[in-house]
Formats: sequence, structure tokens, C-alpha cells
Amino acid sequence: MVLRLWEEKDIPQIANIEARTFPDPWSKKDLENVLKFSFYRGFLVEDRGQVCGYGCMMVACETAEIANIAVDLPYRGKGIAKAILNEMHLFAKELGAVECLLEVRMSNAAALRLYYQFGYEPYGVRKNYYGNEDALLMKKIL
Ligand SMILES: CC(C)(COP(=O)(O)OP(=O)(O)OC[C@H]1O[C@@H](n2cnc3c(N)ncnc32)[C@H](O)[C@@H]1OP(=O)(O)O)[C@@H](O)C(=O)NCCC(=O)NCCS
Repeated sequence: MVLRLWEEKDIPQIANIEARTFPDPWSKKDLENVLKFSFYRGFLVEDRGQVCGYGCMMVACETAEIANIAVDLPYRGKGIAKAILNEMHLFAKELGAVECLLEVRMSNAAALRLYYQFGYEPYGVRKNYYGNEDALLMKKIL
């Protein structure tokens, strides 16, 4: 398995995983913007040409924000999200960020456990952010 930055050729595979993972998936165009704009950075784990998981973040001055992270079903539970998150934190720190933010569904037990494990702490709630479900806002000091 290889951990690397997103490239143009990865977008269709990322879009497919995105579509089968989230009820409100990013479009191909949204994903292409990650390659287009310098404040975005996308990382993925690939196994022999197969994208297994990916994440992308924004970094603006002292604040980084995880925009999305997902691991395709057959590859879950193998430490791929941990590897991607770790790489994103290193990258954000290199750029001078001192904190990293994200939002997560209150019901997303796996993601919540992952974020707590990485030292994220809740700092607010966004009411009905996902339709009828609230988002928990979390922050980690890098
Ligand atoms: C959340 C997600 C990214 C985790 O990916 P993963 O590669 O399976 O996670 P890892 O194997 O790196 O596990 C990292 C940690 O996540 C947590 N975790 C992962 N799967 C879990 C599960 N099924 N139940 C509870 N905790 C879980 C654990 O804390 C785990 O650490 P541990 O193995 O030391 O206990 C994956 O389940 C996923 O893609 N879910 C759908 C998309 C999503 O919810 N993205 C987050 C949006 S905010």
C-alpha cells in the first residue's frame, strides 16, 4: 500500500467511493477543486492501482480543516484512516497551522472514536447541519 497525494487520474475512483459512502457526496467537480486550489490538499492510500481510502483538508494560515475522509468498505479496520489523518496533520503543521477543525455526525461512532483517539475535542454543535442530524464540531491542537 502507498500513501500519496491525489492526482487527476484518481478522481473517478474517489468519486465512486464518495458516492457509496456518503448520503451527500462531493461531485467530481468538487473533488477536482482539491487539485485546483492551493489551500486544499488531498491524500490517499492506494493498493496496486485501487484507491482504498482518501481524505482532504484545507489549510488557511493557522487553521487547518479536514474536509472529508473515507475508507472504502473492504479496506476498513486496517489503519488506513489513521495513516491518512496522521499525514494530514503533519502537512498542516509544516504549513504553519496550529489547530485542525472538523465536523462529524453525532451518530458516527467509528469516526468519533477515531477523532477522540487523535486528540480532537468537541467545541460546539451545528444544529441540523446534516438535515435532521446535528454536527459535532471538533478541534485538535497540532
Ligand atoms: C471512519 C473511517 C474513516 C475509519 O476508517 P478505517 O480505515 O476503518 O479506520 P482505522 O482502521 O484507521 O481505525 C482508526 C480508529 O478509528 C476507530 N474506528 C474505526 N472503525 C471503527 C468501528 N467500526 N467502530 C468503532 N471505532 C472504529 C477506532 O478508534 C480505530 O482505532 P483502533 O483500531 O485503535 O480502535 C471509516 O469507517 C469510514 O470511511 N467511514 C465512512 C465515512 C466517514 O464516516 N467518514 C468520516 C466523516 S466525519
